[in-house]
Amino acid sequence: MTKWHRSYIQNAYRELEHGITRKQLDALDINANGKRVLDVGCGPGNLLVALSADIPELLVGVDVDAIFLRSGRSEIEKLIGKSSMTPALLRAALPTLPFADASFDLVTCFLVMPHVPDDSVALTELARVLKPGGVLAISGHGFGFPLRYLKRFRLKPLQMYLASLIYRCTGKKWIRNTLQNDKKMCDILESIGVVPEMRHYNRKVLGCVATYWIKAIKSEVSPKAMQ
Ligand SMILES: C[S@@+](CC[C@H](N)C(=O)[O-])C[C@H]1O[C@@H](n2cnc3c(N)ncnc32)[C@H](O)[C@@H]1O
Repeated sequence: MTKWHRSYIQNAYRELEHGITRKQLDALDINANGKRVLDVGCGPGNLLVALSADIPELLVGVDVDAIFLRSGRSEIEKLIGKSSMTPALLRAALPTLPFADASFDLVTCFLVMPHVPDDSVALTELARVLKPGGVLAISGHGFGFPLRYLKRFRLKPLQMYLASLIYRCTGKKWIRNTLQNDKKMCDILESIGVVPEMRHYNRKVLGCVATYWIKAIKSEVSPKAMQ
């Protein structure tokens, strides 16, 4: 376990304890009750713990990182009583999810889009596993995100803005945490038949959005059928 993993896990579970994770779900009016739910890029399972309180029918978390999954298993066990819905955790990575088409009513994917190499391919895969009429909730970072690091790490904001410029000019994510534009995410979602319904921002830094959340609904009719 690296220092970064340890501090990420501590912070994620602190936000859970202080109700911040629940507030993010509430801001998008998300309730998992009775639903088949998938959390992609679940990290140490913080969002899964919040979702489990709603008593979903099925709760699955996937992540590419075995260290997060391992710590997630023990944190989840400590926090979720045996009577609640215990999530299944699997190692898998976007853009290849090991689930059949239309398997879930709700797919969440928080703070993972900044890590995937191709937004469009990743969003298409998230939509594939969602049932028609199902809800997709994603989040990512805007231009205010690097500014949060100004005091602590002076070069980090510069590095991240450069990464953003490279991405904008070339479409290639060479450096992780490349900044995103939530409008672009919404345009991609619309083009694949997942209609954005709600957008929510917080943590504005110097007037710039640091983190955005989008809730979108998968159309009952496929975009191809509409053409
Ligand atoms: C910033 S953390 C977010 C964790 C959690 N969703 C949250 O909101 O706290 C990003 C997570 O995405 C995972 N991740 C990165 N690329 C991924 C991919 N291609 N497929 C699945 N998970 C991925 C990382 O391992 C990490 O756990």
